[in-house]
Amino acid sequence: MKFLSDRAHIRSFVLRKGKMTTGQRQAVDKLMPHYALTPDSPLDFSQVFGNDNPVWLDIGFGNGESIIHAAQNHPEVNLLGIEVHLPGVGRLLMAADENNLHNIRIIRNDAVDIIREFIPDDSLQAVHIYFPDPWHKKRHHKRRLVQQEFLDLIRPKLNSGGRLHFATDWQPYAEEVALLLEQNTDWLINSQTQSRYAPRPDWRPVTKFERRGQRLNHASFDLIWHKQ
Ligand SMILES: C[S@@+](CC[C@H](N)C(=O)[O-])C[C@H]1O[C@@H](n2cnc3c(N)ncnc32)[C@H](O)[C@@H]1O
Repeated sequence: MKFLSDRAHIRSFVLRKGKMTTGQRQAVDKLMPHYALTPDSPLDFSQVFGNDNPVWLDIGFGNGESIIHAAQNHPEVNLLGIEVHLPGVGRLLMAADENNLHNIRIIRNDAVDIIREFIPDDSLQAVHIYFPDPWHKKRHHKRRLVQQEFLDLIRPKLNSGGRLHFATDWQPYAEEVALLLEQNTDWLINSQTQSRYAPRPDWRPVTKFERRGQRLNHASFDLIWHKQ
């Protein structure tokens, strides 16, 4: 994978080698040409997906459980996933192929660079960030994906009323993001619940990372906000 920018920017991930199963390796070799995008200019989603359905972006999709679930349950929507971890990409590709899902595309790169360079303004109906690395240690907090700068990056990409859905099982991270959103008057809290944390909606499944948190007795926190 080639990063788009070499300029010193604090990345929200450490690229692990990770073991690939034969199935994942084969899926990557065979299916990347069909599902993966390697943009060199701003994306035209109607062209990419072959329709004008709304686009939901899933950042750091891990093994892709949330994308597969949303693609199956919301065939009226296009799913774009961005992830750097290749074994996870392989898993998603295998599941997309097995389930014959055509409303999925992926990009294997740093989501921050991709959003900045290639996602057009007003082009997304939703941005989903599920169980992003919490970077527990204080000296690593600067690596957390969701900070003010990131909110400023994604807000213009959403269409009016578009949704930002963030979920984590690390309460301090949930509180930090909730505080940020509450301070930004250009985001509106979910009008139905009006409470800081929303119940898990139907489009988000329980993922591997969430199950791991549950084994540690961690609660999950869903924040659902909309662009004004
Ligand atoms: C803890 S996992 C959560 C995976 C998944 N969303 C879930 O709920 O199971 C976080 C994932 O985000 C990915 N990630 C972190 N920062 C990223 C970035 N800037 N661009 C793309 N992927 C990123 C990591 O590689 C990792 O797979």
